[in-house]
Amino acid sequence: MLIQTLIERKRDAGALEPAEWRDLLARYLRGEVPDYQMSALLMAIVWRGLGEDELTALTEAMLESGSRLEWAGFATPCVDKHSTGGVGDKVSLVLAPLVASCGVAVPMMSGRGLGHTGGTTDKLESIPGFRTDLTLDQVQAQVRRIGVAMFGQSDAIAPADGRLYALRDVTGTVPSIPLIAASIMSKKRAEGLDGLVLDVKAGSGAFLPDPASAQSLAEIMVRLGEAGGCRTTALITAMDRPLGRAIGNALELEEALQALTGEGPADLRELTSRLAVEMLLVGRVSASPADAAREVEKAITSGRALDKFRHLVEAQGGNPAIVDDPGGLPQATEVELFEATEDGTITAVDPKPLGQAVIEMGGGRRQLRDAIDHSVGFVVTARPGMSVAAGQPVASVFARDADGIEVGMQALRSAIRYGPADPPLPLILRRVTAAGQEQP
Ligand code: URA
Repeated sequence: MLIQTLIERKRDAGALEPAEWRDLLARYLRGEVPDYQMSALLMAIVWRGLGEDELTALTEAMLESGSRLEWAGFATPCVDKHSTGGVGDKVSLVLAPLVASCGVAVPMMSGRGLGHTGGTTDKLESIPGFRTDLTLDQVQAQVRRIGVAMFGQSDAIAPADGRLYALRDVTGTVPSIPLIAASIMSKKRAEGLDGLVLDVKAGSGAFLPDPASAQSLAEIMVRLGEAGGCRTTALITAMDRPLGRAIGNALELEEALQALTGEGPADLRELTSRLAVEMLLVGRVSASPADAAREVEKAITSGRALDKFRHLVEAQGGNPAIVDDPGGLPQATEVELFEATEDGTITAVDPKPLGQAVIEMGGGRRQLRDAIDHSVGFVVTARPGMSVAAGQPVASVFARDADGIEVGMQALRSAIRYGPADPPLPLILRRVTAAGQEQP
């Protein structure tokens, strides 16, 4: 098989056969297909899309490129959540221990940052000592013991996705419905889950800003999940502004700890609770949404969810003292307030420049092997609809030096807008299940 003929066929809107997808990925993983050819094929997919059969074949080939988690003899339902990526999206940090403290096992595999969005594994690694590089045996043993593990994707699970994810990140080929669907669903199916909840972002800070595209992506992923025997629900949620106030690894971890005690920003708490309810429903441990909501609320107010997070940190080598004293997290050396530049109403807080600035300030990677500074980022109190007076503090920049502060200030100047703008999206736009979609 000549790789260029596959690229040409996809360029001309043709389809690849299942055996061709399998062979292509196997050869790519063995180093026999260079990145430049794979990049050309990915770009052709961005433009031409994939037919339904091709999407299934690509997802299966990515899934089969690695191993799967095994849950034989384990009676607790296993459920995970995956977000398509956002700015300030620290939901996983709250959700995994919260749901695990409600009788659902959560083997949560997360990614590093992609594009302008941060990654859950980077956020967790701001806890001194915390390890996300667990083997599959370690994940299985820990989930059976304490009901939760949070780990990074290794070569063991869907390695073809791992390689393509990194390549897409640097070749402008992230925003594609079939590529995102195959990427997420191959690795989630490898977790051997009973249920999966998807948080599909829409708005200017999402990879697919248009809500209609987010809905197509959600429907496709629900179909792929259900076809693989995994009960799957998706919520389409707002990413036209950052989620919560904190953006940046250690700052987001601190805000997640607040949410685990029932405090912190209302949008973060609401979205986390809604996703938790969906996880209990697909896990079939709650009979109704109202029962699930009561269970989730109890887990927070009783301190059970926070305790579970403490056990998780301990189990993965982190210092559990940070749970009660977040002062032990990395702290930025420079902090500066950002003030509103006009009297009036803030109409938009664009997440993208803020996510990009965190990378530039050292809190994300420009190259795959870059070390990151967990301390840098923003706390943004500005929200669309907020009335402000010029000179009123609406954000803080956390940086390691004066250059970082300037990058952060510049990003805030471009992100926070006062002029006319579309009204903000509702926090939860739609709920998509195998039965169809509804406005929740
Ligand atoms: N998250 C993923 O895991 N893959 C994508 O392609 C996009 C977001």
